[in-house]
Amino acid sequence: MTRKVTKAIFPVAGMGTRFLPATKAVPKEILTLVDRPLIQYAIDEARAAGITEFIFVTSRGKSALEDYFDVAPELETSLADRGKEELLATLKSTNMESGAIAYIRQHRALGLGHAVWCARRLVGDEPFAVILPDDVIDAETPCLRQMVDAYEETGGNMVAAMEVPDEATSAYGILDAEPNGRCVSVRGMVEKPKAGTAPSNLAVIGRYILDPAVMRHLDSIKSGSGGEIQLTDAIAREIGGGNVHGYCFEGTRFDCGSKGGFLRATVAFGLARPELREELASFLRETVANGNA
Ligand code: G1P
Repeated sequence: MTRKVTKAIFPVAGMGTRFLPATKAVPKEILTLVDRPLIQYAIDEARAAGITEFIFVTSRGKSALEDYFDVAPELETSLADRGKEELLATLKSTNMESGAIAYIRQHRALGLGHAVWCARRLVGDEPFAVILPDDVIDAETPCLRQMVDAYEETGGNMVAAMEVPDEATSAYGILDAEPNGRCVSVRGMVEKPKAGTAPSNLAVIGRYILDPAVMRHLDSIKSGSGGEIQLTDAIAREIGGGNVHGYCFEGTRFDCGSKGGFLRATVAFGLARPELREELASFLRETVANGNA
């Protein structure tokens, strides 16, 4: 029997330089998709997958994130006094149970593997999830829930996977695996392979369910691609005996770590809101018809 996954790590220490100057004052995880910060989508997805302990790996300048997850009693009282029940419910849905969130600082930007390793003592000897909030996934069944369900059958380690075009493989961790149904057995994985050397087009997307052994591998892993300590390299050590699976999730992934991806997500999530759909759709139609697109 596989052990239940109740802890998730959210690596949020990155400086978000691609979104400067906004990220000079606001952590990129607080940037807003329609009306909710990116981090809220990640938290909601984790909750839907049964996660009850949320571990944030942060860095200097990220205190707005801690404030965001704090209760806002004055705001709640003021909304209640004015009878704004719907807004009050929205606000309360973001409240977290006391003690459910832990914050750990990554003191130096040494890579994703290092950020995850910073949470080792909080994870202990349990399987854990990792969610990269930049990867926003729109799916009927939230992506991590899909993975937890599949993981109950497979155990081991599981990474979300998606096919990407040839020219994009050098921006991802790439799996050596046969695309074969939703759950594929991984023979190898390589972080950001040089153009033309990728073992397949199956890219790792930012959702992982990992065995605590990966933390032990991170203890001794040397820097890899880009001079950083790579999570991919630590997971690769677990391959053998069918221990690593790629899960080709159902849903649409938006790369909200890039401006183009963020804008696409804004349009898609805006169109998905009944109260915004008509206005946004007609604006987009007009813009295209006027030749501005
Ligand atoms: C990270 C991982 C990479 C993965 C990607 C998914 O890279 O290192 O393996 O494919 O996230 O978004 P980053 O985008 O942080 O460079």
